[in-house]
Amino acid sequence: MTATENSRLAIIGAGAVGSSLAYASLIRGSAREVVLYDIDASRAEAEVLDLAHGTPFVGSSTIEGGGDLDAVSGANVVVITAGAKQHPGQSRLDLAATNVGILRDLMPRLLDRAPDAIYVLVTNPCDVLAVAAQRVSGLDAARVFSSGTVLDSSRLRWRLAERLGVAASSVHAMIVGEHGDSEFALWSQARIGPVPIREWADDAGSRLSVGELDTLAEEVKNAAYAVIAGKGATNYAIGLSGARIVEAIVGDEGAILPVSSVLTDYHGVSGVALSVPSVVNAQGVAQVIDVPFSAEEERAFHHSAETIQGSLEALDL
Ligand code: LAC
Repeated sequence: MTATENSRLAIIGAGAVGSSLAYASLIRGSAREVVLYDIDASRAEAEVLDLAHGTPFVGSSTIEGGGDLDAVSGANVVVITAGAKQHPGQSRLDLAATNVGILRDLMPRLLDRAPDAIYVLVTNPCDVLAVAAQRVSGLDAARVFSSGTVLDSSRLRWRLAERLGVAASSVHAMIVGEHGDSEFALWSQARIGPVPIREWADDAGSRLSVGELDTLAEEVKNAAYAVIAGKGATNYAIGLSGARIVEAIVGDEGAILPVSSVLTDYHGVSGVALSVPSVVNAQGVAQVIDVPFSAEEERAFHHSAETIQGSLEALDL
């Protein structure tokens, strides 16, 4: 893909996630200029050098960065990946206090350098950090949001495509709510091609039972724990998810993605960031789509809201 002219993506944090996002963005041409910053200058410089060595094989995108935050200047999109990461057995919410502390220091310094950028939080717990970033920055909720369940929804689409033998691009299904243990699948709105998922039948006429759908959703919810247990972190899929979000912003696409922004009276929820289908374009979250929930989904959504609200209260946010 040819990167949009004058598009500049700044990635904060050159750890496994930030470096994977930079790598994915270069290969996909998500932005013309990719900047990778880390407080550990030698780490950032080494990642930038390693990525730069491969750029003759990619399109028009370039990579720069290191330990100087001034490199963020002129960015259209700033993606924050810096912070403590989950260790085996740790929940994403366990990281809240540490990572909100990092964000409180970082946000003003980023805004000084990129006052007009769209800000995307990837660092976990990303829903809590989206609220913290919005409060600290004072930006409109549309301009500061998190990757939310874009990754979880990709996991669900991959798993359903594999189970049903169809292309993932024909699986229209989302995980919504918390990017975490209270997330849930929006089965009432899920479709395989034009067919509602509960009516989908294979050639032998067998359908997906409610039990099987629930098992798939549970597998997706716990997917990160399985990867972390095996390799210590997740990075490739979240890097690709971040690149997809960047493209929707930089390309002014109007793509409908389950990103997490601070909600106002959404199914009665306000002041909490949760993932729901949203229109993402150059303005950020241009519209939060009012989705008709089933009674069970309504309950699950409010459980997610209470979970994030509890974490915010514990942090006095
Ligand atoms: C995961 C991390 C990014 O779900 O929260 O892999």
